Amino acid sequence: MQNKQSIHGAWANRWMFILAATGSAVGLGNIWKFPYIAGENGGGAFVLVYLVCILLVGVPIMMAEVLVGRRGRQSPINSMREAAYEAGHHGRWAGVGWLGVLAGFLIFSFYSVVAGWVLYYIAGMGSGKFIGLGSDQAGQVFAALLEDPKTLLIWHTVFVVLVMMVIAGGVNKGLERATRVLMPLLFVLLFVLLGYSINSGYFSQGWDFLFHFKPEALTWEAVLVAMGHAFFTLSLGMGCIMAYGSYMGKKDSIGGTVLMIAGLDTLVALVAGLAIFPIVFGNQLDPGAGPGLMFITLPVAFSQMAGGQVFGFLFFLMVGFAAWTSAISLMEPGAAWLVEKLGVKRITAASILGFLVWALGLLALGSFNLTSDLLLFGMTAFDFLDFLTANIMLPLGGLLVAIFVGWYLPREMTEDELALRSSGIYLIWRFVLRYISPAAVAVVFALNLYQKLAG
Ligand code: TRP
Repeated sequence: MQNKQSIHGAWANRWMFILAATGSAVGLGNIWKFPYIAGENGGGAFVLVYLVCILLVGVPIMMAEVLVGRRGRQSPINSMREAAYEAGHHGRWAGVGWLGVLAGFLIFSFYSVVAGWVLYYIAGMGSGKFIGLGSDQAGQVFAALLEDPKTLLIWHTVFVVLVMMVIAGGVNKGLERATRVLMPLLFVLLFVLLGYSINSGYFSQGWDFLFHFKPEALTWEAVLVAMGHAFFTLSLGMGCIMAYGSYMGKKDSIGGTVLMIAGLDTLVALVAGLAIFPIVFGNQLDPGAGPGLMFITLPVAFSQMAGGQVFGFLFFLMVGFAAWTSAISLMEPGAAWLVEKLGVKRITAASILGFLVWALGLLALGSFNLTSDLLLFGMTAFDFLDFLTANIMLPLGGLLVAIFVGWYLPREMTEDELALRSSGIYLIWRFVLRYISPAAVAVVFALNLYQKLAG
């Protein structure tokens, strides 16, 4: 057994790791995306497929990522290299870490733009600007925001600075401190909103919409969406979880911890759905509104209900916290690597990366206004960045990690690091990681790509 620690620090205890990784996992994907894709894809049937994907693909690959991180105790790039050396393989496996750092950088640039919208809505809700809004007006407010590069720039910049501040603080004074404050608040806000929706008189309608099992609504397309989302929502495929795993205690159980993180992430997504849909139904709005559900439909609902200004403010505050803790994890692998490679201080690493993602974010931001004509493969920069990362880089990264850990690391090494309670569970994990997860990811990866490029 190796007992070395990361030069960057270590989580105070097992719960800090669970909370920090949950902070990474719970983000715009859970609160903004999950409710509407579940609604669009047949509710209960979709939720079931999504849960299967989390268990068969998400959990085994997350365990693999944590395992490599804790073994290597460094940034994903160096941990992958270390693990490969230890197993007698070529250092080029570090390339998987590189792919991850690059993916994190690209995801950050458009994630920050959406997070900027959220900040704008926090301010708007708080100041009462959205009181008495009809649906047409709400649509106009959102459209006007997208067309206004100056306002977008301000909030994008604020968000990047918020993340840089945390990264500059390092593992204990930055990441851990933010996690300690933001995650409990996020849970409290979520349950306050759930309480509101339970009392709204429309809870059962929301419940049915999400959990009523309609097998006929389940399509092959929905399976693809469910699988892709399982990846995105658990922050897999780019080394976030590997980096967080490198700060984890040696004695903590990886299996139990990962199950907890996946469980919490799923719980937040389901509760977010249960908090949102009753509000939507209570106001006779369309649950299938798609991506506009959060930025157009919900503000209308909040503007018309009693106490809506307060609940609307709390709702967007919660989304902002969730986006913040996720974005931190997108920057951590790159920051850790810069510190290791160049020996610079955290604040320098944070400033370099912050500037880079801010600059690339300008391109994503301009997709809605100044540079909307600039198309890459028929997509705006924003859509292209989303497509390239979510549909290509993340599945590829996840697939490579599964292959590396499942096929290239010797059995003794992974068995020792996981230290699972029974060898039966270990064998099941290893089997799923070697055969099931890669096959599932490969199929979805190929189909997704084919569909996009052919369609
Ligand atoms: N999981 C986060 C969400 O649901 C987003 C995120 C953070 C992410 N880190 C990631 C997605 C790494 C993919 C890879 O919003």
